[in-house]
Amino acid sequence: MSEFKQLVFSGVQPTGNLHLGNYLGALQKFVALQDSYECIYCVVDMHSLTATLVHDDLMDQTRGIAAAYLASGLDPRKNIIFNQSRVPQHAELAWIFNCVARIGWMNRMTQFKDKAGKDRENASLGLLAYPSLMAADILLYRATHVPVGEDQKQHLELTRDIAQKFNNDFSERIAGLGYGVEMTVGEERVNGFFPLTEPLIEGPAPRVMSLRDGSKKMSKSDPSDLSRINLLDDADTIARKIKKAKTDPEPLPSDLEGLAARPEAENLVGIYAALAGVTREKVISEFGGRQFSDFKPALADLAVEKLAPISQKMKRIKADPGYIDGILREGGERASAKAEATMKQVHEIVGLLVN
Ligand code: TYM
Repeated sequence: MSEFKQLVFSGVQPTGNLHLGNYLGALQKFVALQDSYECIYCVVDMHSLTATLVHDDLMDQTRGIAAAYLASGLDPRKNIIFNQSRVPQHAELAWIFNCVARIGWMNRMTQFKDKAGKDRENASLGLLAYPSLMAADILLYRATHVPVGEDQKQHLELTRDIAQKFNNDFSERIAGLGYGVEMTVGEERVNGFFPLTEPLIEGPAPRVMSLRDGSKKMSKSDPSDLSRINLLDDADTIARKIKKAKTDPEPLPSDLEGLAARPEAENLVGIYAALAGVTREKVISEFGGRQFSDFKPALADLAVEKLAPISQKMKRIKADPGYIDGILREGGERASAKAEATMKQVHEIVGLLVN
């Protein structure tokens, strides 16, 4: 058991429209965690500069993600909700982590390879260093748990690698200053300044796939809008996209093993289970043996029932940017107090003269 204070941190990039994958992989879990943990939820606007530097509407997109947080049910009094760029210590700690992490670690990141494509030499340095900023987001608050979709797993492993290398490289200074915290790593008890953060990925839909191709992740950047359900889609659009979702000609299987080589069927069953808050077994026990022509309308009704209120609330909140900015400002002040405390100790550990 870690002796660090349990704290949840997560973030969403303000780039493109939020979709069902973001909702089931992230937002729905954020809401579930707010009752049992202290939580910090960030709109990671500086990450949005890594792939595209100039955005027409970055401020508006940042407010849009904040509106989605609130509309999904996050309580701004209970949780800290803010946008990353208000707390400059994220960038400062990222710089130190750039000097901890190795270039080889960054080159291995699949998200970097996907986003940089063939012309890697021409990708921004920020895109390569992105996981270092992500590690800083998390470790600035010494967060112990991070709810994310499965696509972020590799970045979280790297966050642990960075924490571990920092703890090792500075172990004597950390101990000398009395800043170490006891934690268990494998079988061993070790002492370190940063926790080895746990990802929270489980659930019936950790990786929501495209509705047009069960082998591809549902994503903001897919050129086909039919591949995803956007959080702001209206009821008719949601129903139409589910009706058009790719499937195979067989009925749904009567047990989970029967989904193994059927990615489209598996995806729709996972989506149903996550939206209904039940296991995939439960969905199969209800719909096993039935045709997609039965299952799809039930899924469409469920998706509309769960998503339409969020989308309506999101539109109402977005209409009042002053309200959103007030919440982000206040959250930024609360986050800053924590960030300053961590960085004061980091300066001392690393040996940066600041007073
Ligand atoms: P981003 O903005 O791409 O996605 C936000 C969250 O949505 C999840 N997600 C999915 N989950 C399931 N199925 C999908 N198809 C799907 N697509 C997206 C992502 O896993 C994520 O949880 N690097 C992060 C943002 C970030 C962050 C952080 C997250 C920056 N700093 C610190 C946690 C902690 C990203 O680009 O997520």
